Amino acid sequence: MATLREEIEEARREALAALDKAGDSAALDEWNREYLGKKGRMTALFRGVGALPAEEKAKAGQAINSAKSELEETFSQATERVVEGEQQQRLQAEAVDVTLPGRPAPDGHLHVITQTVRDILRAFEHMGFQVYEGPDVELDIYNFELLNIPPEHPARSMHDTFYIDDRLLGLRPPGASMDDLPPVILRTHTSPNQIRMMRKIEPPVRLVVPGKCYRSEATDATHEAYFMQIEGIAIDHKVTLADLKGTLAAFARAIFGQDRRVRFRCDYFPYVEPGVDLAINCLVCGGKGCRSCKYTGWLEIMGAGMVHPQVLINGGVDPDEYSGFAFGMGPERIAMLRHSIDDIRLFYENNLRFLKQF
Ligand code: DAH
Repeated sequence: MATLREEIEEARREALAALDKAGDSAALDEWNREYLGKKGRMTALFRGVGALPAEEKAKAGQAINSAKSELEETFSQATERVVEGEQQQRLQAEAVDVTLPGRPAPDGHLHVITQTVRDILRAFEHMGFQVYEGPDVELDIYNFELLNIPPEHPARSMHDTFYIDDRLLGLRPPGASMDDLPPVILRTHTSPNQIRMMRKIEPPVRLVVPGKCYRSEATDATHEAYFMQIEGIAIDHKVTLADLKGTLAAFARAIFGQDRRVRFRCDYFPYVEPGVDLAINCLVCGGKGCRSCKYTGWLEIMGAGMVHPQVLINGGVDPDEYSGFAFGMGPERIAMLRHSIDDIRLFYENNLRFLKQF
């Protein structure tokens, strides 16, 4: 039978050999249980010490202890080595190849109408105009009355204008009738800003005012219930129709090309006198006549005119001292002409395949 000393030596050798083979944390745990655990080999050896004669006990105990601490020491070195190896493996598995091409982030872009509005505003800014804005929710008197549009005018019918029940906004005492105060509407055009701007700013003024407009009407290829307009107004001493023509011709050429021809014709708007409409020679046929220009050779792009003296007075401007011109256009129409789009409703359907083209 092997002496205890031999048993210790054997356990020690076996343990060291086994430890050498333990390649991962699980194997190390197992090894630790087998040799150093409560029910392990070393503990078992200690149990054998009790049976020895008294003079051998101390020596045997020492021998086991020294073997045990050698194993403990070797175990902690092995643990360090294994943990490090495993960490290395994990790092390798999780490694990111920084040379791979990135995934492109899809970037958005400005809506075609926003682009058009900005182009139009920029053309006027280059001629010394400043950009202002007014409210979408407008007083009826600014939208109509102060612009010489009389109460019985058809544009004011419920069919064309969105009236706002402002009792809901808490502006009127509860129970008040809609007739107690002037009605509130969604502006049907940006022209009320002629009055607002004249009242706000002393002449000389040169302003362009973009904004959304609303009309209660059935939509079709050329009519939306929601659309934009850009209003312009220029007031100074001795402003004449020649200034209007020069400014708007320069604008039309800035947007549609320097070789565009322009045509001014008489038109009627209650807030200007004289009133004109501005057309450019057809972008498709150049003026010969085609379907796009309805065989007239011309495309109308805006209304304009010399500000009516009564409108100047309504804006607090003295018509004996000042005169001015005003104009208004729809950016949707401008964009339709520029990009050959035949249906205004496409702009607001939010179909990305349509919008991505611009
Ligand atoms: N407000 C007009 C419209 O909605 C456009 C317009 C015409 C504006 C003549 C003007 C103007 O300032 O002078 O169609």
